Amino acid sequence: MKQLQVGLEERAYPILIKEGLLSEIGQELKQRQIAKRYIIIADDQVAELFGGHVVESLRNVDIPVDLLTFPHGEGSKNLSTVAKLTSSLAQLGVDRQDALIALGGGVTGDITGFLAAIYMRGISFVQVPTTLLAQVDSSVGGKTGVDIPEGKNLVGCFYQPKCVFIDSAVLKELPAEELLNGLAEVVKYGVIYDGDFFNFLVAHQKNILRLEPAVIEAVVAHCCTIKAQVVVADEREADLRRILNYGHTLGHAVEAASDFTIAHGMAVSIGMVAVNTIAVKKSLLSPEKAQRIKDVLQGFGLPVEIPADLDRRQMKEFLKTDKKSVGGKPFFVLPVQIGKVIISDDVEDIMIEEALA
Ligand SMILES: NC(=O)c1ccc[n+]([C@@H]2O[C@H](COP(=O)([O-])OP(=O)(O)OC[C@H]3O[C@@H](n4cnc5c(N)ncnc54)[C@H](O)[C@@H]3O)[C@@H](O)[C@H]2O)c1
Repeated sequence: MKQLQVGLEERAYPILIKEGLLSEIGQELKQRQIAKRYIIIADDQVAELFGGHVVESLRNVDIPVDLLTFPHGEGSKNLSTVAKLTSSLAQLGVDRQDALIALGGGVTGDITGFLAAIYMRGISFVQVPTTLLAQVDSSVGGKTGVDIPEGKNLVGCFYQPKCVFIDSAVLKELPAEELLNGLAEVVKYGVIYDGDFFNFLVAHQKNILRLEPAVIEAVVAHCCTIKAQVVVADEREADLRRILNYGHTLGHAVEAASDFTIAHGMAVSIGMVAVNTIAVKKSLLSPEKAQRIKDVLQGFGLPVEIPADLDRRQMKEFLKTDKKSVGGKPFFVLPVQIGKVIISDDVEDIMIEEALA
């Protein structure tokens, strides 16, 4: 078992990574004594695939457990789902001695973390991420929340889990598109923080796509280590944590202009390549390095070009109203090497237009 630590002092927590860990969660929770009873929150698909497994693992060690579900998909990540779940928790008599288990992808993790933060002014929760994206990104760092009609993730809070349990075996069930979504974030870590890890990804591309357990575990552990370091340095995204938005500013505009028909990870891949053109224009990044990043994304089967039919003017508008823009000015995370980036809002309109072209 690999064990990492998110060193946030009194809110510190471990990340455990092991193939087959799902069936050991009961024992782990028993040892850690986080709560006297647990409520698993999962979407319908994940509940069907793994819900019974986790319930059994807790029952085997005599921990009381219930399972609550909601319909899968981003469409459920809203206040109405949270309201329904708060009522269900109250009806089950859940109190502050109890804890939630977020079993699923980023949607489940974000909903459950937010629910845990607000139910009875805060109860404990643990993360059991089942998509690659959730394992390498959303389950670590404590960002929780939901969407409102005016925008994605506009309501939420920072609330850290007590523990993260990662079982790489669950990825075998993951549809190919969901795997790609996570791989875009994996490549991101190499570019923003660790050139050696980027080289590892290039060298092991085929093994990763074949989901070879040892390689996948190494990749997930490395991404979690980077995310934990960044979060410990800047929990509330005042400074360093903003580097995690590499490719996301332009990516969000692509996602929104496509009316969310282009999935998040695909849009981030396109966004990384587009923002690299700005870095090259500003003579921060060499064209050869930009090409290497594009090659590795394409090697994984990720898209690298903004579809011709997306409205560029609309995308520019989305950039101005992006929730991370300040005074209508978006910021960009620009690579200067593979493994090092800078953050800049000093990007001329003409360069943004060229990147969107
Ligand atoms: N909190 C954060 O720091 C953070 C970071 C990045 C993204 N996010 C959020 O994460 C969400 C996206 O997460 P996601 O991509 O995991 O989406 P998701 O949770 O909707 O999961 C994608 C789909 O995969 C299915 N699924 C999950 N695990 C499976 C498995 N092992 N096998 C088969 N199917 C499985 C789910 O039922 C779902 O249909 C977005 O809402 C985004 O805003 C949050």
